[in-house]
Amino acid sequence: MSKKHSALLICLGNICRSPIAEGVFAHLVKQNGDEAEWHVDSAAIGGWHVGKSPDWRAQDVLKAHNIPYNNTARQLVKEDFYNFDYIFGMDEENMSDLKRKAPKDAKAKLLLLGDFDPEGDRIIRDPYYDSDSKGFEKCYQQCVRSCTEFLKRHQNKEI
Ligand code: 4NP
Repeated sequence: MSKKHSALLICLGNICRSPIAEGVFAHLVKQNGDEAEWHVDSAAIGGWHVGKSPDWRAQDVLKAHNIPYNNTARQLVKEDFYNFDYIFGMDEENMSDLKRKAPKDAKAKLLLLGDFDPEGDRIIRDPYYDSDSKGFEKCYQQCVRSCTEFLKRHQNKEI
């Protein structure tokens, strides 16, 4: 990877939570003037939605907050564990899947994104089966808090 730092945001399907997290992370990096330094991407544990744009509710939340996004879903591959510095999961299930799939000599640090939430709301729950969009807005707010805090600690060389 040619950029100095890299982050991969993971969830089960890569159509709800991780696209929001990727959009937010990339937007914050840009706001900080660090766009040239960071490679940011997202991927799925499962392959069901490969090639698709995010769920319309995720797209709506990103649009409502003026976060640009035009990536499509892809599945996590072994090379990701060597190519990325940080791989973030959204919930405990993501973390156990990541740990199970990680090769022994992986370079990437596997982190629960919500562990950086200053409000301590650690789990970014799956809103896919919800009948409304509220869970997507909550996911967005959690991502903003956690990505902001992570980038602050990263800038301070604490992580
Ligand atoms: P995500 O939500 O992991 O936040 O993208 C899901 C989307 C699709 C499925 C599960 C979770 N699915 O089973 O198809």
